[in-house]
Amino acid sequence: MTAGPFDLSGRKALVTGGAQGLGRMIAESLVAAGAEVMITSRKQDALDAARAELGRQGQVHGAVADLSTPEAAKALADEVSRAMGGCAVLVNNAGKTFGAPIESFPDKAWAGIMAVNVQTPFTLVRELLPLLRASASADDPARVINVGSVAGLRTERLSAYSYSASKAAIHMLTRDLAGDLAADNITVNALVPGFFPTRMTAHMQGEDGADPALLAHIPLKRLGRAGDIGGAAVFLSSRAGSYVTGVLLPVDGGLAGCG
Ligand SMILES: NC(=O)c1ccc[n+]([C@@H]2O[C@H](COP(=O)([O-])OP(=O)(O)OC[C@H]3O[C@@H](n4cnc5c(N)ncnc54)[C@H](OP(=O)(O)O)[C@@H]3O)[C@@H](O)[C@H]2O)c1
Repeated sequence: MTAGPFDLSGRKALVTGGAQGLGRMIAESLVAAGAEVMITSRKQDALDAARAELGRQGQVHGAVADLSTPEAAKALADEVSRAMGGCAVLVNNAGKTFGAPIESFPDKAWAGIMAVNVQTPFTLVRELLPLLRASASADDPARVINVGSVAGLRTERLSAYSYSASKAAIHMLTRDLAGDLAADNITVNALVPGFFPTRMTAHMQGEDGADPALLAHIPLKRLGRAGDIGGAAVFLSSRAGSYVTGVLLPVDGGLAGCG
């Protein structure tokens, strides 16, 4: 029987920050589609718990990594090579944010956010290039999937100045890398999430769920779900997505497209 267009059997993928939140949703969908996946977390216990659950569905590796420095990104690339011996899909998901009114927005909330949200994704692409190139062919390219944000596309009035600037930067980096790596049969795209219920958006959710004002602001009137982001990640990782590169794909209930 031929594999379907979304089948990821035999594909090796790295999902940074894959132990929880959006990264976990993405990792779960990749594993369910057949991929062998490595996830990362800064915390051993979070990693162990996620590996135990995801590992019931398929082969899942874990690496403890604080991806604030280029050295850490290089060490992670080495670990991917050691543990999986290859990488066909790199999902740059790990990210951090900070919000404060402009008058008190601190200078120290710039460097760390730009490092994790922009520089580390770049360093991981560079360090994993040999593995990505080795897995790539014209018919089945290797894939880089960066996680951007609707806050990097349009003003969301979150007072998360360095965050939204970092997400606009990763969007542009995505297009730049897509142009440069097309000749290597490596596609580079960005998932652009709207609002998903994770730790990052916990302040927008009450005990009864999402803030009604937030839901009213989203054309499809709901928050994103695991299958929404996971399905989009599977598409971009699979044969179905092999002719798509340089794209910023909003998964946002219509915020970007209908605004
Ligand atoms: N939730 C949303 O509505 C939304 C919307 C748009 C974009 N996004 C993007 O989606 C991605 C995931 O965010 P989330 O919503 O899932 O938020 P989250 O629950 O706060 O998760 C953040 C993830 O990034 C990892 N991370 C943070 N700082 C790190 C560091 N210094 N080194 C290594 N890993 C680090 C965390 O890993 P550990 O804590 O396990 O170490 C965690 O997996 C981010 O890029 C975010 O900007 C989210």
